[in-house]
Amino acid sequence: MQIYHHIHSLREVLSEARVQGKRVGVVPTMGNLHAAHIALIKTAQLHCDVVVCTIFVNRLQFGLNEDWDRYPRTLESDSLKLNEAGCDFLFCPEEQEIYPNGMDSQARVRVPCMADTLCGKSRPGHFDGVTTVVAKLFNIIQPDIAVFGIKDFQQLAIVRRMAEDLCMPVGIIAGDIVREPDGLAMSSRNGFILAEERPRANQLNQSLSWICEQIASGERDFHALEQEAKQQISESGFKPDYVQICNSRTLESAAHDDAQITVLGAMYTQHARLIDNISLSLKPPL
Ligand code: PAJ
Repeated sequence: MQIYHHIHSLREVLSEARVQGKRVGVVPTMGNLHAAHIALIKTAQLHCDVVVCTIFVNRLQFGLNEDWDRYPRTLESDSLKLNEAGCDFLFCPEEQEIYPNGMDSQARVRVPCMADTLCGKSRPGHFDGVTTVVAKLFNIIQPDIAVFGIKDFQQLAIVRRMAEDLCMPVGIIAGDIVREPDGLAMSSRNGFILAEERPRANQLNQSLSWICEQIASGERDFHALEQEAKQQISESGFKPDYVQICNSRTLESAAHDDAQITVLGAMYTQHARLIDNISLSLKPPL
């Protein structure tokens, strides 16, 4: 695997690949790679000839009181994992390379409405930071495809909408959620879960699964289900942020007859904010 820190040298090697008719795919990450990231690399390999993984802890998408400074940076072990997975290129720029004019006056890409609900409500500006850096990475790499995990369901929906609205010629591919054996979704932030919290940390997944079971068996009082799930999370010793039953496409609160529903949630442990979601298809009414 070749490692690049600078835009110009990465572009050079990628344009050679393109001249040879190779399809280029990108997997954007913030590093501290785990099995779910590697699964995205494998998915990308199925769809293209050359895979670029990017590792950049994007300060623009972190709030002032969030965990940018303590976000785990493990470049050496990350590059070993990528190498082993057969990734072709790693692009790991310094902040100066991505934001040479600083961040305050940086041009932004924003997907309104969708970016302001759910996680966007508790993390104002977060998704603007995500879409801005992803748009930059798309412009730098000019990939044919890009792979994003369903674990960040709202991020995936927003990136899809950005690519569609701005006519970006990039196919957005979704990678399944990879979980620990007890259902906890893998995350670089799981390292912040305290040992004493860990046995209960799958509560978010449990409560979202419980909602899905209730809906599948005919319950339609969505508000009551959301409240009950938040209660379950509180009772297990965590602080619920939100639990919301949404229309999978619009991310607006689901209507009772929606066929594609996604239940999304976020909760706080002592030192981490965890997110998860589960989608379910309901048969349209006869
Ligand atoms: P990061 O949290 O490192 O995640 C990189 C990619 O891995 C995202 O597409 C995310 O959805 C996916 N991912 C993480 N955990 C997953 C899991 N358990 N199952 C499936 N996919 C998983 O998301 C970001 O970085 C950033 O916001 C980024 C898109 C790189 C922009 O800075």
